[in-house]
Formats: sequence, C-alpha cells, structure tokens
Amino acid sequence: MGNASRDAEEIAEYYARGLERDRLAGGAGALELARTQVLLERYLPEPPAVVVDVGGGPGRYAVWLAERGYHVHLVDLVPLHVEQARAAASTRPGAMLASAEVGDARALRLADASVDAVLLLGPLYHLRERRERLQVLAEARRVCRPDGVVIAAAISRFASTLDGLHRGYLDDPAFAVVAAGDRRDGRHRNPTGNPAYFTTAYFHRPEDLAAECSAAGLAHEATLAVEGAGWLLADLDARLADQQRRAVLLAALATLEAEPTLLGVSPHLLAVARRR
Ligand SMILES: C[S@@+](CC[C@H](N)C(=O)[O-])C[C@H]1O[C@@H](n2cnc3c(N)ncnc32)[C@H](O)[C@@H]1O
Repeated sequence: MGNASRDAEEIAEYYARGLERDRLAGGAGALELARTQVLLERYLPEPPAVVVDVGGGPGRYAVWLAERGYHVHLVDLVPLHVEQARAAASTRPGAMLASAEVGDARALRLADASVDAVLLLGPLYHLRERRERLQVLAEARRVCRPDGVVIAAAISRFASTLDGLHRGYLDDPAFAVVAAGDRRDGRHRNPTGNPAYFTTAYFHRPEDLAAECSAAGLAHEATLAVEGAGWLLADLDARLADQQRRAVLLAALATLEAEPTLLGVSPHLLAVARRR
C-alpha cells in the first residue's frame, strides 16, 4: 500500500469511531469552538454569503453558519460525518445546509469562483505531503471568488508535546516517540491504536502556514492562535461557563492571538488568506 492510501485508511478508521461529533462540547474543544467562532465572525463576509466548509466534519460550524443566514455547502471525506452534519442541520430550524456531500478537499466539485469563503478546518492538518496541502489551498483559491477569503486551520508542531505534558501522555514511552517525531518533522503517526493520541496528521510550524498560502497563490493576511495558552488552564470548563470570566479569557486570548512568539503554544492556528 502506498503512503497516501495508508494515511487515508488510518484517518478513515480513526473517524469511524464516531468521536468527532462531540469533540467541541467541553474542555479545550469548547475553547477551540468559541475562539474559532470569534475569528469566523471577524473574517467572513456578512450573511447572506456562500461558504463552503471543506472538511466540515459533523457540521458544528456549518450548522451554526447556516443558522446565521449563510448558504453553506459542507464537504467531507468521511461519510459518517456527512450523515451527522445532515442530521444536525435537520434537527434545527433555520439551519438547512445548501448541500452536504462526501468529497475530497484536493478536488472539489464546485465551479471556479463560485463561493465567497472557503473554510478548511481539517484537511490541511491531515495531509502529510506539502504537495497535497498546496493542492488543497489551490483548490480553495480556484473555487473562491476574487477577494474572497480562505480560512485554514493547522495544528501546531508542538501540540503533541504540550498535550502530552498536560494530560500525562508523555509518561507513555510510545507516546514520547510519537511526539519526538512530530517535533522533528511534523509528520504525526500513531501506531499505538490509542485514539487519545490522534491519527495520521501534519503539524505545522506557525511560520510555514504563510509560506504554504503564498505558494498556492493566495495572499496571506494573518496567522492567528485559536486557543492560545488558554487550553492549559486547569479550570477551563468553569471559566467558560461563567459569562464574565469567559469574556475575560476570550479578550485576553484575542490580545495575544497574533503574537509570533506565542503562536506555537496554541494547539490550533488559523491562517486567513485571500484570492487576489
Ligand atoms: C478534526 S475534524 C474537524 C471537523 C470540523 N471542521 C471542525 O473543525 O470541528 C477533521 C475533518 O477533516 C476531514 N478531512 C480530512 N482530510 C480531508 C480531505 N482531504 N477532504 C475532505 N475532508 C477531509 C475529516 O474527514 C474530518 O471530518
């Protein structure tokens, strides 16, 4: 089996467990959701606008955007996620998706310049070859209208080491080997079978995101920390549940979101780029 098809099989097996649907419901996931929503509200054009959520998974963002009046197309490699997205949209009034289809970020079935915004909150960090990541970004550029925005998520090169410390995974010698490999070249593989250690992925150095956007012909505007260091707080759920403390946390993270010396501490990064 070639590397690309082995990678695809590992990713499919991981997501077939169905764990993705509730990932953003609490803890660091809830902070990722809250901060991503802040950044999407800032960078997306006003509704109604056409958004394609590529790698949209079980539809958490797609449904939220549809409820806000966007025309949202969701595309994902994993059939279970597309079904879950359709189900989530059908249970909420006013959240109808324009479409939800199985598809690949590397070859979108959308016409040139047909959308106002492209979300790539997943595909870039699941492709370990730079050539394929550039293909995804170039596809996003192709389907985006001139001056439209492409918002792409990456996972930080240092996420597994920091998560390993935070949650104790580094006490497992097998995880320590995985994290050392990640620090070396960003090419994450998890041969342990433990789903807590994630699946086949690519972990970016923050500065590489701008270079990849430019190489794909996009005008890079910003690389921003999503969770920043906030995910390391011991009382994160309690803070997010208290409106006043939540606002303080989100405001502090916003003030530091573009600080280059802190970007790598954030598990997720968002690149904002435009088709010029
Ligand atoms: C961690 S989930 C994120 C889901 C959602 N976007 C979010 O941010 O919560 C990553 C998603 O990217 C999808 N994905 C990975 N590679 C892809 C590709 N080449 N084309 C389309 N979807 C892909 C996976 O199937 C998965 O649903």
